[in-house]
Amino acid sequence: MTISMRNNEELLQGSTVFLRFLNLADVNDTYLSWLQDAEVMQGIATSGYTMENLRDYVSSRINNPSVAFFAICDRQSGTHIGNVKLDFYDEKARVSELGLLIGNKAYWGKGIGYEACKLALNYGFGAMGLRKIYLAVYGNNPNAKRLYEKLGFQLEGTLRKHVAVEGLYYDKYLMGIFKEELL
Ligand SMILES: CC(C)(COP(=O)(O)OP(=O)(O)OC[C@H]1O[C@@H](n2cnc3c(N)ncnc32)[C@H](O)[C@@H]1OP(=O)(O)O)[C@@H](O)C(=O)NCCC(=O)NCCS
Repeated sequence: MTISMRNNEELLQGSTVFLRFLNLADVNDTYLSWLQDAEVMQGIATSGYTMENLRDYVSSRINNPSVAFFAICDRQSGTHIGNVKLDFYDEKARVSELGLLIGNKAYWGKGIGYEACKLALNYGFGAMGLRKIYLAVYGNNPNAKRLYEKLGFQLEGTLRKHVAVEGLYYDKYLMGIFKEELL
């Protein structure tokens, strides 16, 4: 399976946002600032991003033909507000992992995470031919967990007190969804 269209065009249309493939021109101060914002990153638990390693990271993902890395863009202004990604494709099992980040906090709580995931999940189950999509979400990020439950993700396992964030330990929830479970 190869993700074929690698252009700048609007690819998947929602009512509030559209998705297009992310490209290296999207790696700018704004994107970097999302990854340096403790509030945005508290449920992700990775840190230490610089412009250089962010560029390397994005480059490695977008040059991998089995990764679908989308920019989430405001439909009205075209502004890039976050990313959603299907990564770690398992060719035999036809499974990928979903990652979601709305970096611009002014856009939180407006249903955009839900809409962007729905577009990405439909793309995964459609164009990519995936059988199952999974993710990990941490106990300190209940909003994200609720969002995934609302999409139809099922809890498949809990790694207890598995991640450390600012000196506290949180559970890591593993969730998964099959096409027919999509709500
Ligand atoms: C978590 C995140 C993706 C949520 O995106 P969002 O666009 O704000 O979420 P939505 O507005 O689509 O919310 C959808 C559902 O999620 C839940 N939810 C999201 N934010 C919530 C909040 N602040 N309080 C309560 N429930 C919330 C609700 O169930 C909501 O449904 P409802 O509006 O019908 O009540 C976003 O805050 C984010 O990108 N955070 C930083 C990165 C991150 O944590 N990513 C997830 C890693 S697993």
